[in-house]
Amino acid sequence: MHDLSVLCGMNEATPRIRHGSQADLSAIESLLQSAGLPADDIRGIPGLLTWVVEAGGTIQGAIALEPFGKEGLLRSLVVAPDARRHGLGRNLVMQLESDASSEGVRTLVLLTQTAAPFFRDLGYQAVGRDDVSSAVKSSAQFRSLCPASATCMSKILV
Ligand SMILES: CC(C)(COP(=O)(O)OP(=O)(O)OC[C@H]1O[C@@H](n2cnc3c(N)ncnc32)[C@H](O)[C@@H]1OP(=O)(O)O)[C@@H](O)C(=O)NCCC(=O)NCCS
Repeated sequence: MHDLSVLCGMNEATPRIRHGSQADLSAIESLLQSAGLPADDIRGIPGLLTWVVEAGGTIQGAIALEPFGKEGLLRSLVVAPDARRHGLGRNLVMQLESDASSEGVRTLVLLTQTAAPFFRDLGYQAVGRDDVSSAVKSSAQFRSLCPASATCMSKILV
């Protein structure tokens, strides 16, 4: 998983990205709720993959992938307010992209209300919701959880 020691110096509090587990779901939900992001459905999605960044025994951030064959819905990216602007968000996205690509995912799609510039810097482009496959559009995020005003973005993985 991603080595963040170069960003933070190597000690017991060095942030480390790992796969999330069932035991992390409460912490993930709490981070999402604090950031005003949808958390209600996170336990009920078959095949949902999560990653967390942990430092000093605390979950400081998370991201999730809802897979739809060669497409994937990147969702639930959040970093705790006091841990932002240290590269954790970017590294969570890079870890998800790397793992998704290894699993055969070719295109990532996301919805965001406030972080479009952050994702643009990482190579995501705004697309219309109509440009997204019906499989991804069938997700709860597209159907009901994210407002229609959210920006839809996409990136083709190499
Ligand atoms: C978006 C979020 C995950 C970014 O996490 P982070 O750990 O602060 O991001 P990073 O430190 O990796 O930032 C990487 C770059 O993006 C920039 N950036 C961070 N958040 C940004 C934002 N909301 N808008 C524009 N740029 C942003 C940083 O300045 C940094 O640029 P730099 O390397 O030139 O300094 C975090 O702000 C967050 O949790 N926001 C609330 C939840 C949210 O909106 N999630 C997205 C839902 S899809």
